[in-house]
Amino acid sequence: MLKSFDIYNQNNSLKIIVALNLLLVGTASLLYTNRLINKLEEREAHYVILYAKTIAYLVDPSHFDSGDLTFVTSEILEANRTVPAIYVDPNGQISKPLNIDFPENLTDEGKQQFLRDKTQEMKKRHPPIVVEIGNGERGLVYYDNSTLLRQLTYFPWVLLAILGALGVLAYLAFSSSRRAEQNRVWVGLAKETAHQLGTPMSSLMAWVEFMRSDPAQYDESITDEIAKDVSRLETITARFSSIGSIPTLKEENITTVVEQFTDYLSKRISTKVKMSLASQIPADQTVKINKLLFEWVIENICKNAVDAMKGVGELRLTMQALSNQEIAIDITDTGKGIPKASMQKVFTPGFSTKKRGWGLGLTLAKRIVEEYHSGKLFVKSSELGKGTTFRIILNADTGQQKKAVQAQPSEKEA
Ligand SMILES: Nc1ncnc2c1ncn2[C@@H]1O[C@H](COP(=O)(O)OP(=O)(O)O)[C@@H](O)[C@H]1O
Ligand SMILES: [Mg+2]
Repeated sequence: MLKSFDIYNQNNSLKIIVALNLLLVGTASLLYTNRLINKLEEREAHYVILYAKTIAYLVDPSHFDSGDLTFVTSEILEANRTVPAIYVDPNGQISKPLNIDFPENLTDEGKQQFLRDKTQEMKKRHPPIVVEIGNGERGLVYYDNSTLLRQLTYFPWVLLAILGALGVLAYLAFSSSRRAEQNRVWVGLAKETAHQLGTPMSSLMAWVEFMRSDPAQYDESITDEIAKDVSRLETITARFSSIGSIPTLKEENITTVVEQFTDYLSKRISTKVKMSLASQIPADQTVKINKLLFEWVIENICKNAVDAMKGVGELRLTMQALSNQEIAIDITDTGKGIPKASMQKVFTPGFSTKKRGWGLGLTLAKRIVEEYHSGKLFVKSSELGKGTTFRIILNADTGQQKKAVQAQPSEKEA
């Protein structure tokens, strides 16, 4: 029941979550790319130093001790600070492991075994590089992707996943904000209508009293008819004002309510519509409902049914218990039926196939049943040219269920 009001809060916190996430992802990816860039920069600087030293050597080899080129080797080895590599000499001896993290507490023999396993692992990703070392002998260099490269390859996917998740969040926030707005318009409109109707209604009632006080001048039967219409208008206003506020639910005998209202309706619809009610639920079964709104639902569905039958046919109401907790009220007509494609659409605001239809009746009805009564309303079945059955499911407030609801109130609200 509180749902329509919770949406505002929910929506706000969703927005905050989205904003925080965006900030987080933005900062994290900035820091992360920054780190990657720094690492790359460091690496490139090394290559340039190497290049500079090589140039220096080429320009003036005498500058280096007796043409010593060892700096090149050590620098090159230095330059690789990230790519894990292992050299295996022609005798199968493992040496010069580079950038390999050993597990702790390994003996020398253990380290050898670890490196051997590592080469097998590396071989799966990259074929080893063959090194000619003279005399027709060859060594092998096994290597793996650097952490940097691995991080770089994951990066776009991680980013994509985060963006996708954010997209979903943003969509949720957006659609719930639209729903919240619809709710506000809806509730506001209902309240405003009830409020505005109030003034002319009290004035009308005063006029009726005035006419009653002078039966010589005003035909009594006419006055009575007007009084009836005024009281009908009063009901409508009451419905509107109760939808604009949180309607109170009361334990009602459901059979009696439906019976009385069916009776009331049958007198007001075409006499060529045969209206009937069959109940299979215990005569003392009570359900928590708002009578005024619930009757409105029945009225909306029945009026649609009469429209669908063009005023001629059979309108059957049946009531049955689906379980200890659920009561189903089926409203079946012998009208034109609803095409499969429209079965969901009939509940969307503005959907109408009638010349002068507003397409709000079923939207309202669904809302009243589902939001205010935590029930369900749907098209149970429909066949073109044969007829349609709408089903209302209400929660039967049996003793057991009441206890369960009291024990877990938060679950029901959520
Ligand atoms: N019992 C029914 N049989 C066939 N079509 C129906 C029935 N009830 C509703 N519809 C379809 O659903 C549409 C929407 O109904 P509703 O929301 O009450 O708006 P409206 O009655 O103003 O058209 C109707 O225009 C009609 O096409
Ligand atoms: Mg209607």
